[in-house]
Amino acid sequence: MKNSLEQLKKEFEEMMKKVTDRAALEQLKNEFLGRKGKLKSLMADMGSLANEERKTIGQFANEIKETIETVYGKKEQEIDAADEGNREAREWIDISEPGQFPQEGHLHPVSQAIAEITEIFSRIGFASVRVPEVDFDYYAFESLNMPKDHPARDDWETFFVDAPETSKGKLVLTPHTSNSQVRTMETTAPPIRMINIGRCFRRQIDVSHTPMFHQFEGMMIDKGVAITHLRGVLDYFAQTYFGPKRRTRLRPHHFRFTEPSFEVDISCDVCGGDESGNCRLCKSGWLELGGAGMTHPNVIKAGGLDPAVYSGFAFGWGVERTLMMRSGIKIDDIRVLYKNDLRFVKQF
Ligand code: FA5
Repeated sequence: MKNSLEQLKKEFEEMMKKVTDRAALEQLKNEFLGRKGKLKSLMADMGSLANEERKTIGQFANEIKETIETVYGKKEQEIDAADEGNREAREWIDISEPGQFPQEGHLHPVSQAIAEITEIFSRIGFASVRVPEVDFDYYAFESLNMPKDHPARDDWETFFVDAPETSKGKLVLTPHTSNSQVRTMETTAPPIRMINIGRCFRRQIDVSHTPMFHQFEGMMIDKGVAITHLRGVLDYFAQTYFGPKRRTRLRPHHFRFTEPSFEVDISCDVCGGDESGNCRLCKSGWLELGGAGMTHPNVIKAGGLDPAVYSGFAFGWGVERTLMMRSGIKIDDIRVLYKNDLRFVKQF
């Protein structure tokens, strides 16, 4: 029995040498001194010993227990000291090291274009307005000289909202920003120079169309506004935003809310205005930026003004298309703007 106890002590000391962390230390202590530990199970055999011998062995067993506890205590101190040292090493900071700057994001290229376009028009007195992007049929179509069931409405492949019809018609996701024309005339006395940049929605998707896109709508209403004012404003914008080398052209067109009406094109920057038809994006050397024209008398009337006194012009261009046509941008698929691919977005 005495030998077995000696053996136990040796075994404990040997195993203790390999212990380096607190978890292993606790496990070893349990293994030897725990309720179901090795010392307890040795002591269970003591009942069979003679009285005298039981006393001696009992004392010896206590000594062994104390030795084991002492070894355990020492090791515990060593581990504590090592832990403390590690913590200090881990937590040490070099306060003279240069700081790490957090990564900075930036506005999406479309948001940058919106800010820039707003600023360019503000320089010539066009005040920024906001109107609803879910609006009544009346403002999106009817007040713009497009009565109910007029076939011209088909050009704006519109999303309708499934909501009860009101006296101003159904609710639509605005297919263009022209709903701002009558809304602004209703709230602002002439002279009016407004710019409205908003989201538009149409059932379209391909290299030059997305179902959600942005337009900027400009409108000027005053006495004696003529087509030359419109040309002047468009040229001012085109030269400021695109640079003096780019060419613009007006093509006669038809919109129900302007008369006369035009489409404004700009020479394509992807192909450099190559009219051979080989460019993946424009297919003609020109890219349509948007429409423009002199405000129709019926629209001026719908805005509560007298067309015999007031005249005006309006234009509505796509923000994404405008951005894409900027010198050096060379995006040949509009959808890339909304793919949220950081490798693309970070380039701006
Ligand atoms: C209009 O929306 C008229 N409201 C413009 C207007 C305003 C004319 C004021 C006269 C006076 P249009 O449907 O052509 O016109 O669209 C104008 C521009 O919006 C297009 O030339 C294009 O630049 C842009 N656009 C139209 N649909 C999309 C689309 N699905 N994705 C991206 N851009 C688009």
